[in-house]
Amino acid sequence: MRTSVAVDVTDLTKVYPGGVLGVDGLTFRVSIGEIYGLLGPNGSGKTTTLRIIATLLKPTKGSVKVFGYDTVLNAVEVRKLLSYLPEEAGAYRDLTGLDFIKFMLGVRLKGRELDEAIEEAISIADLGSDIKRPIRGYSKGMKRLLALSTVLASGSKLVILDEPTAGLDVERSIRIRSLVAEFSKKRGITVILSSHNMLEVEYLCDRVGILYRGKLVAEGSPSELKVKYSARNLEEVFVKTVGGLSIVSS
Ligand SMILES: Nc1ncnc2c1ncn2[C@@H]1O[C@H](COP(=O)(O)OP(=O)(O)O)[C@@H](O)[C@H]1O
Ligand SMILES: [Mg+2]
Repeated sequence: MRTSVAVDVTDLTKVYPGGVLGVDGLTFRVSIGEIYGLLGPNGSGKTTTLRIIATLLKPTKGSVKVFGYDTVLNAVEVRKLLSYLPEEAGAYRDLTGLDFIKFMLGVRLKGRELDEAIEEAISIADLGSDIKRPIRGYSKGMKRLLALSTVLASGSKLVILDEPTAGLDVERSIRIRSLVAEFSKKRGITVILSSHNMLEVEYLCDRVGILYRGKLVAEGSPSELKVKYSARNLEEVFVKTVGGLSIVSS
């Protein structure tokens, strides 16, 4: 059966050892080709959700399907379909940028496909002669672009980006946003990204889910949300949804 749903998250709950609630009954769907943003403050459950979708963490309750495959029961199939940019890409300090690209893409591709993907990643990373230097000398922004280059060039149908621009300067953030938009449009790639930057999400995402304390408190396109909450921007939407909740719970 053909489906237009890329990611199907149903009643997803994660309780960490020790009883901390990571996410609490999340349900949302992402369509094929869509850029979906999970927006929320630190600790709201963005990374937990993305790691479960990427098969790196198991849910306590509920389920996630990626192009129809269950992330627990069919984890191997799911991993073939997605690429994941972690919040902190740490290791590999002794590799050069180019070796990193070859290593990451070589896990999945071979032959001409691999050569083309390597060329593409080099051009996305745009690191000039630094690509031949060890990663330990790279700035945070250079590392993020390098990691993003392999994710975008991998040919994956689903790309998961955890805070792709957090802590980067404005120029690099803008470049990363336009690369994500360009690749999603050009290749029909589905993107799920997390951010606590409301303007970024408003600019980049077709739809947004606002997370707060592990729960989805609002969802829609940026323009729908602004109309619904009579807000000028997503920041106001956020304050109105979350402000309402804290009044209710106090
Ligand atoms: N490995 C872990 N063990 C225990 N608690 C965790 C772990 N990872 C995250 N948490 C908790 O789960 C909640 C959601 O965290 P996280 O998903 O990292 O949020 P975000 O990415 O939105 O900042 C937070 O309360 C956090 O402290
Ligand atoms: Mg996080």
